[in-house]
Amino acid sequence: MAVALIQGASGGIGKALVQEALASNRFDQVIVTARDPSVLSWSDPRIVKVALDLCDDDSIERAQASVSACADRLNLVVTTAGVLRDESLGIAPEKKLTDLRRASMRHVFEVNCFGPFLWYAALAPLLRHRETLCIATLSARVGSIGDNRLGGWHSYRASKAAQNMLTQNLSLELRRTNPNAVVIGLHPGTVDTALSKPFQSAVAADKLFTPEFSAKSLWSVISSAQPEQSGKVIAWDNQAIVP
Ligand SMILES: NC(=O)c1ccc[n+]([C@@H]2O[C@H](COP(=O)([O-])OP(=O)(O)OC[C@H]3O[C@@H](n4cnc5c(N)ncnc54)[C@H](OP(=O)(O)O)[C@@H]3O)[C@@H](O)[C@H]2O)c1
Repeated sequence: MAVALIQGASGGIGKALVQEALASNRFDQVIVTARDPSVLSWSDPRIVKVALDLCDDDSIERAQASVSACADRLNLVVTTAGVLRDESLGIAPEKKLTDLRRASMRHVFEVNCFGPFLWYAALAPLLRHRETLCIATLSARVGSIGDNRLGGWHSYRASKAAQNMLTQNLSLELRRTNPNAVVIGLHPGTVDTALSKPFQSAVAADKLFTPEFSAKSLWSVISSAQPEQSGKVIAWDNQAIVP
C-alpha cells in the first residue's frame, strides 16, 4: 500500500499539493494534517484527516499515533508549515538588526525549522524501510546564504537556512539504511497565498504564481526526484538552489 502524508493541507500550497497527490493516483492513502482539520473539506475515501500543531509536542505525539494506526510505512512525506508574519503574535519580517525580538525569532524557528524535523523524528519508525521514500520540506530561496544579496527578513531567512541544513543531515542519515530515499527542500516560487499577501506589491504579475501552478511544478519535482538530488533544495523549475 502506497501512503502519502501532507502536513499543512489547509495552506495555499499544501491544499494544492493534496489535489496533485489525489490526481496522481499513486497513493492508496493520503493523510492530510492541519492544526484544525475541520477546515479540510475533502470527502475522497483515500483522505485521512489528522490534527497537528508542529509547535506542540503532545499534538505531534497524538498525530504520530493517528498516522501509525492507519499505516505502517510512508512513501511520501511533505511538510508545508511556514510563517513569515503573524499580526496576532506581533511577528513581522525584520528589516534590520535592532528589529530582532527573541519571541518572534523563536516562533519563526519553531514553525519553519524545529516543527517539521521534530515531526519527521516522531515518524521515524514509519520511514525505516527500503521502498520508495521522498521527504520534501517547503523551504524558500531566501534561505540560501550564497544567494542573499538583499539582507533583511532575518528570522525567516535564518530559519529556512537552518531547515536546509537539517534536510542535508537527514538525507545523509537515511541514505545509510535506504539508498532509494530522497530528502529535499522545495522552493515554490512566489505564490499567491496568505503568507505572501502583504508582500506582493513588489512582485511582477508574471512572477506571482497561483498555488495550483506552483503545486503542479513542485509535484513534478517530487515525482522525478532521484537519490543523487537528496539533500538539495530544488526550485519549482527543477533547478537546484545554491546553499
Ligand atoms: N507563498 C510564497 O510565496 C512562498 C515562497 C517561498 C516559500 N514558501 C513556503 O511555502 C510553505 C507554504 O506556504 P504558503 O504560501 O502555502 O502559506 P500559507 O497559505 O500561509 O500556509 C502556511 C501553512 O503553515 C501552517 N502552519 C503555520 N503554523 C503552524 C503550526 N504551528 N503547526 C502546523 N502548521 C502550521 C498552516 O497550517 P494551519 O492552517 O493548520 O495553521 C498552513 O498550512 C511555507 O513553508 C513557506 O515558507 C512560500
